[in-house]
Amino acid sequence: MGSEPKLSVLFTSEEIAATVSKLAAEIRQDYLTKHPILIGVLKGSFMFMADLIRLLDFPLEVEFIRLSSYGGGRESSGKIKVVQGLRSEVRGRDVLVIEDIVDTGLTISFLLDYLRKKKPASLKLCALTDKPSRRQTPVTIDYRGLTVPDKFIVGYGLDWDEGFRNLPDICILEGED
Ligand code: PRP
Repeated sequence: MGSEPKLSVLFTSEEIAATVSKLAAEIRQDYLTKHPILIGVLKGSFMFMADLIRLLDFPLEVEFIRLSSYGGGRESSGKIKVVQGLRSEVRGRDVLVIEDIVDTGLTISFLLDYLRKKKPASLKLCALTDKPSRRQTPVTIDYRGLTVPDKFIVGYGLDWDEGFRNLPDICILEGED
């Protein structure tokens, strides 16, 4: 990457907000009386989680889990581990995992297997973005936001080497695909 990274907007903050609203309406319909635990996958999901839960006007709990997958570069290593675990008991609870992106699917497959072993009452996945062209393992996304092309995307929580998470738009980082 050169000293001047080239960014082009893929989804504006307005388009993201509309998508988050749509997802919140779907989630509200299914979880209104269930007092679910929403588990955000750090770090990428923090901004999406914050915006999403502001639109959910019913009792819920928020948890975060931190996994490692990409390291500092782009490619998923396929070796996933829990870096920071959960504080809440998920056994018997309705659990909704909140992801910023499903790319190869390796991270979320690992996490869903990990959580399933804890015997939640139900387990579903909400992903703001989906990059199906790079999938290495099948993933069911129960609440899906935006489909993204096979380009490296940053912003709205998504990073390149820990940078660009603070961009309000989702942008393509040119030259990194
Ligand atoms: C990203 C993203 C997902 C995962 C998706 O996280 O937030 O958790 O990769 O990739 P996959 O479908 O190919 O497994 P990353 O490991 O980059 O950590 P971060 O959220 O801290 O940026």
